[in-house]
Amino acid sequence: MIDIHCHFLPNIDDGASDMDEAIELAKLAVENNIKHSILTPHINIGRFNNNLAVINEAVQGFKVELEKQGIPLNVYSGAEVRISPDIMPMIEKGNVPFIGKWKGMDALLLEMPHSNIPIGSDKLVKWLIKKNIIPIIAHPERNRDVQKDMSVLKPFIQLGCLFQVTGSSLLGHFGDICVTRSIELLEMGVIQFIASDAHNIKRRPPMLTEAVAVAANVIGEAEANKLVYDNPALLLDIN
Ligand SMILES: [Fe+2]
Repeated sequence: MIDIHCHFLPNIDDGASDMDEAIELAKLAVENNIKHSILTPHINIGRFNNNLAVINEAVQGFKVELEKQGIPLNVYSGAEVRISPDIMPMIEKGNVPFIGKWKGMDALLLEMPHSNIPIGSDKLVKWLIKKNIIPIIAHPERNRDVQKDMSVLKPFIQLGCLFQVTGSSLLGHFGDICVTRSIELLEMGVIQFIASDAHNIKRRPPMLTEAVAVAANVIGEAEANKLVYDNPALLLDIN
């Protein structure tokens, strides 16, 4: 499988606390049949001030360590970018990593705050699309506005945004409402990806198998597999 969203890199955000934990996360991913992981540290201006150069350097260091330890996991640079006008100058300067290409457009993993969808988010999405950047909206099921009323996603669906459900949402780790919303989103056919959003070994490990089984019960095995194989492979342009 291919995991398009995880926080393995150490000391860069609220993910792995050190290289040992990062390596353990990578081992767990491999045990869980994950062969490729896009490493997506937070870019959240004021809290996690990461950028393309910092992330690329951290990924290179991690690659060396994986090779040294003989862990067969392919890793790629990415970021989970918190929506904010602050990201606009960074994007203009090419300081934000994309997580691949989707139909000729650069794919940006875009995170809303958990509390709400900020006013003007649709305008920012339009600005991105004009720049040939397609947002992949991370875990919409965890957003409280979405939990209250799914119709708030309509403008983003109409603009052509892609959506990523978090595996553990389907397993009930974030409460019943996240299960309900994840299943509804799958039934609507708007989800292109299931990802782990793994942060640590204990509470948020990189596991996808069980979540894909739950998704298969909703949309069938072939469609569920597309969310962790075919669609992420398109993003990375691998077979
Ligand atoms: Fe994340």
